[in-house]
Amino acid sequence: MKTINVILFGIGNVGSAIINQILQANDQVFNKQGFQINVPIIVNSSLAFYNSNSLGHNWETDFKNFSVPYKIEDIIKFVKHHELENLVAVDATASSNIVNSYLLLIENGFHIVAANKIANSLSYDFYAQLRNHIKAYNRKFYYSTNVGAGLPVLSTLRSLKESGDEVLKVRGVFSGSLSFLFNQLSEGERPFSNILKHARNLGYTEPDPRIDLSGQDVARKLLIIARELDLKFELEHIEVQSLVPKQLNGQTSLEQFNARVLELDCTIEQFVNAKSTNEVLRYVAELDVKEQQAKVKLITVSKNSNYGLLQGTNNLFEIYSKQYGNEPVSIVGAGAGREVTATGVLKDLVAIAQSIANVQSYF
Ligand SMILES: NC(=O)c1ccc[n+]([C@@H]2O[C@H](COP(=O)([O-])OP(=O)(O)OC[C@H]3O[C@@H](n4cnc5c(N)ncnc54)[C@H](OP(=O)(O)O)[C@@H]3O)[C@@H](O)[C@H]2O)c1
Repeated sequence: MKTINVILFGIGNVGSAIINQILQANDQVFNKQGFQINVPIIVNSSLAFYNSNSLGHNWETDFKNFSVPYKIEDIIKFVKHHELENLVAVDATASSNIVNSYLLLIENGFHIVAANKIANSLSYDFYAQLRNHIKAYNRKFYYSTNVGAGLPVLSTLRSLKESGDEVLKVRGVFSGSLSFLFNQLSEGERPFSNILKHARNLGYTEPDPRIDLSGQDVARKLLIIARELDLKFELEHIEVQSLVPKQLNGQTSLEQFNARVLELDCTIEQFVNAKSTNEVLRYVAELDVKEQQAKVKLITVSKNSNYGLLQGTNNLFEIYSKQYGNEPVSIVGAGAGREVTATGVLKDLVAIAQSIANVQSYF
């Protein structure tokens, strides 16, 4: 039985769901495939909980009682001292601090699985450097939840490309949180700021919801798709329509934004008033591969169109390719939520574990 040792960065919505899903799947699912996933270290932004074996179901209490301040070097020292093998760093933060440590982690034997999109949406130079490092140290870097949470979007793009098809255009609703916000708004019962509060409580938004509302999160996803299709894009190449009123962006802190969130309603009302009664609002991303053009913006669509009929946090990805012609490959499903995102992270982890344990998987 191979043991995979996961060091988990971030124990918020996604991180805590990852731990619980691992604890559930170890006996029934993973052991039958010849591996076990242990989680000897979990950290938040300032504290780490170490346990040279693995976490148990009481991990939250243990973290509360026994966690200590840490530096990344302490983590590396700990895994070396305890001779832990098959190391995977799972990044379930939205922080650039961890990303700054990716290269060091790789040099010290870690594979990386990231729900965090930052590494793939920094400069193209860093994007290329990270891949060179992964190759040089013979490690793996998986990030399938960067686009569409648990949906198979990046893997579909890759398999079309690898089988000789040519992706011409990718279009859709890429944000589970914005999808939820505008689907709820279409019901017409509550102000936007109130729906936003609800979405945050359900764990659908980014820790700072302005990352969603400014279009930045969707732009990052579009950038990751563009790079997956070999376009050497930077974030600045993407035309972005922000929904955050100017006075609440830039200089305001997250606390100030939260306190003045009602000011959002005015901005959104202008879009609502400009559409007809059989239309709804959708925040849409589009990449034209041939023209090398990318944009994200709020549009009006018919209530009865594919876009208009989206429910809940559902995403829609339409992939137009040479072989599929005018009928795009469409992927629809939950594009946000702690459980589906954790499942997506686990799929990446399991792919690494299977390669370590030499398990043959058709996919
Ligand atoms: N939620 C979703 O539906 C979804 C879907 C797809 C992808 N994602 C991605 O998943 C990631 C996590 O999202 P989330 O909703 O779980 O966020 P969250 O609930 O805010 O949790 C973030 C966690 O990261 C920790 N953290 C922050 N900075 C850190 C640092 N420098 N070092 C170590 N830990 C740090 C936080 O610790 P503190 O509590 O100490 O700040 C917290 O435990 C994000 O990158 C997000 O884009 C989320």
